Amino acid sequence: MSFPIVRHRRLRQNAGIRSMVRETVLHPEDLVQPIFVTYGSGVKSEISSMPGVFHFSLDTLKDEVDEIVQLGIPAVLLFGIPETKDSIGTSGFADDGIVQEATRLIKSWYPDLLVIADTCLCEFTDHGHCGMVHTYERDGHVCGDVLNDESLELLVRTAVSQAKAGADIIAPSNMMDGFVQAIRSGLDDAGFQNVPIMSYSVKYASAFYGPFREAADSAPQFGDRKTYQMDPANVREALREAESDVLEGADMLMVKPAMAYLDVVRLLRDQFDLPIVAYNVSGEYSMIKAAAQQGWISEKAIVMELLTGMKRAGADIIITYFSKDAARWMR
Ligand code: PBG
Repeated sequence: MSFPIVRHRRLRQNAGIRSMVRETVLHPEDLVQPIFVTYGSGVKSEISSMPGVFHFSLDTLKDEVDEIVQLGIPAVLLFGIPETKDSIGTSGFADDGIVQEATRLIKSWYPDLLVIADTCLCEFTDHGHCGMVHTYERDGHVCGDVLNDESLELLVRTAVSQAKAGADIIAPSNMMDGFVQAIRSGLDDAGFQNVPIMSYSVKYASAFYGPFREAADSAPQFGDRKTYQMDPANVREALREAESDVLEGADMLMVKPAMAYLDVVRLLRDQFDLPIVAYNVSGEYSMIKAAAQQGWISEKAIVMELLTGMKRAGADIIITYFSKDAARWMR
């Protein structure tokens, strides 16, 4: 018995048909552009491992934000580099902290541009860990344990100060147990019942964060983040993390990094009905930039293919350092 040839190619014969039957379409509204704000004035300095990404002081920020708005990108994710750091990250929850000041400024320029505040302590602590640590010496080395419950209180203060400054979405990224619940009740008590939480629910202990730690000056001074971020080998654990965040009141669930974890994006998409966010992180950006600078790959085609893959895997929102480029290419 012979089968007729199934003519799949019929739907691929011209661009018009291909575009009518396309299953996944990216829009600028899917994207979030991260911004690094720093203290001082007159600063616009390129991050050496992330060509095209800059540190901005508050007085040089306007052009960048103008461009983001003109490109139709609906949201920015703010990271702050403070002037002073200490053991508990005080400048992270100061009402005049760099993220709080930048938020006020951006909202005064563009009330409709969404400001997402990364809520973590690693950029603000002198030891570079995402929470409070108890340090001790062993065999002449400094060691430390990150203190879960003690860190929660500081995170809540950070989130509330960010919401007070006008942040539209709070994005806690430090992976302490109970962080969503603590921040939710802290926000509610402070009158911010309507400020949603985009939880970094499934954040792997990844080497892809390397360039970010240079950009945010947040490399841990001792140890690593493996006691609070997830093992890249695990996926059932991702479900447990996401499930507890849902029960604690998360409004959106994030998977981070993106490229090596698209199975996790798909799993969360299928298991939960909340919006899913994929974070295309610094190392993913840098390796594409580096290969493109060598002329080894076509940057535009590669980036659009990757972002399409993230959306196809189930991401509703994509955080990427390529947002401005991608929005431009979509025009
Ligand atoms: C802070 C934070 C990190 C990133 C986002 N928020 C760094 C980390 O966990 O070490 C990484 C983002 C990137 O690599 O682009 N907790």
